[in-house]
Formats: sequence, structure tokens, C-alpha cells
Amino acid sequence: MTRTVYLNGTYLPEAEAMISIFDRGFLMADGVYEVTSVLGGKLIDFAGHCARLARSLRELEMTAPCPDADLLAAHRELIRLNDLVDGMVYLQVTRGNPGDRDFAYPGPETKPTLVMFTQSKLGLADIPAAKTGWKVISVPDVRWGRRDIKTTQLLYPSMAKMMAKAAHVDDAWFVEDGAVTEGTSNNAYIIKGNRIVTRQLSNDILHGITRAAVLRFAAEAQMEVEERPFTIAEAQRADEAFITSASAFVMPVVEIDSTAIGNGKPGPLTTRLREIYLDEMRKAAI
Ligand code: PDD
Repeated sequence: MTRTVYLNGTYLPEAEAMISIFDRGFLMADGVYEVTSVLGGKLIDFAGHCARLARSLRELEMTAPCPDADLLAAHRELIRLNDLVDGMVYLQVTRGNPGDRDFAYPGPETKPTLVMFTQSKLGLADIPAAKTGWKVISVPDVRWGRRDIKTTQLLYPSMAKMMAKAAHVDDAWFVEDGAVTEGTSNNAYIIKGNRIVTRQLSNDILHGITRAAVLRFAAEAQMEVEERPFTIAEAQRADEAFITSASAFVMPVVEIDSTAIGNGKPGPLTTRLREIYLDEMRKAAI
């Protein structure tokens, strides 16, 4: 089946969706994005992703392409047209095509470009990696200073993913001034006793939508939550570690820089948090 994608209000076969070479998303990575997961044909935490998209657009003085209700309708239509059961809907807004290259932002006559497409991952919530956990390496965080904005400038995270691949592990954790910021495309956590430690929100990390939900569920399940930076050495001494993202949900981390965390297997609190997260989010899916 050919994938049907969305481009500026139109649903098209993927091979027919064309964007100008002058689009600022292409020339300058002048764009923001969201990834919303789909389980059983329904969107997980769509409201959270919409709210963060609005914030990213605002921070970059970019025009919103359409009201949230239209975004929801388009997500649902793409799920329907592509018979998507489990997977993701990717959404990207760029500052559009001013017809030439210029560092200055174009005026209001340049309309934003809105693109959406689906990615099918049947059994996304039951992937075997959730039973064995991820191994990660640490790499220096040399990204820009506004990581709270979900921009499409993903070259360094891609480089870090390649460093992880070269080291035969699953992902990389970024380290800045001696402390972990986050993973290449996820937020990072450690657990000691009954306490979850994760870096506090700031411009240093993306404000994960999964993070917000997981910390809420953790508090409800009587786990303690401490939002502060932690080092790789502290992480290596932790009982458990994990990451969160819209596509991996809650994923155990069992090794950091070749040191096993705890007994080297996914820990009980991480496993429980993953179950709670998936149960609750499936119930609230729209
Ligand atoms: N990445 N930190 C970074 C740098 C991210 O790119 C992501 C998400 C997260 C987790 O955010 P959320 O829980 O809202 O997905 C944290 C998405 C999944 C991606 O780039 O594919």
C-alpha cells in the first residue's frame, strides 16, 4: 500500500508530495516538529503534543499553520487513510518558502509549510527491547542552547546515534558540565531506592510529553521524584535507569559506558512505570 501523506491541507501519495528547494526547513532547519504515538489506531497524549508545538512556534515567532482542531482532524484522517494500528504520526511546521535564501525571517506573506506522515510499527508497545533494556554510552552535549524548542536541527543527535551504533549500543546520553542532560531523542532518569532522579526542566532539555505523564504517574504510585542533574558516575551506581519518549514510552537502560546498572536487567520500578504509563495512556487515547 502506498503511504498517504499530508502537505498543506492536501492528502497525497508520498511520491507526489513536493516542497520547494527554498523552503526554510530545507535550507536552514527552520522548522519544528512533533511525534505522537498511535496505539490501537488512537493518539497518545495528543493535547500534550499540541501544547508543546504551540510553545515551540511561539518561541521562534513562527505562525501556527492552523487551529489545533484541524491538526487533530488531519492526524485522524492520516491514521484512517493509512490503516495505522500502532506507530507514530510525524508532524513538521517550517517557516515556509520565501522564494529565495535570506537569513532574516520572511514577512507574513510567507505561509508556514505543514507536513504530516505516518510510520507504522505494529506491536510498538510490545517490542522485545523493553524486556532486555538499552545499553547507552555518554557523549559530550554540543547542541545549541535552546533544546527546549523541538526544532528539526537533529544533525548532532544523529551523529550521537551513529557513535552509539559504532559502540554496539542502543543510544547515547548527552553530558554537559559533568551532568547528563538527556538522550539523543529521549529524557533520561535514574532510580535509587524509591527515588527517581531526572534533570529539571530548563532550556537544556526538551520538555518531554512522556516525561510529564510518567512523573505524574510515579508520584501517584508513591515513588519520590527529584528533579536535578546527575552524573554518569551516579547513574552507574543507581539501582535502575530508564529513558522516556513518545516512541519508546518507558524504556529500561541496563548499561552505561560498559557498566551494568543494578543486576544488568530492567528494574522492577521501571517495569511497573512502563506498565502504568501504557495502561493509563491507552485508556486516555483519542
Ligand atoms: N523525540 N528529548 C529529546 C531530545 C527528544 O528528541 C525527545 C523526543 C524527547 C522526549 O520527548 P517526548 O516524550 O515528548 O517524545 C526528549 C522524538 C520522539 C523524536 O525525535 O522522534
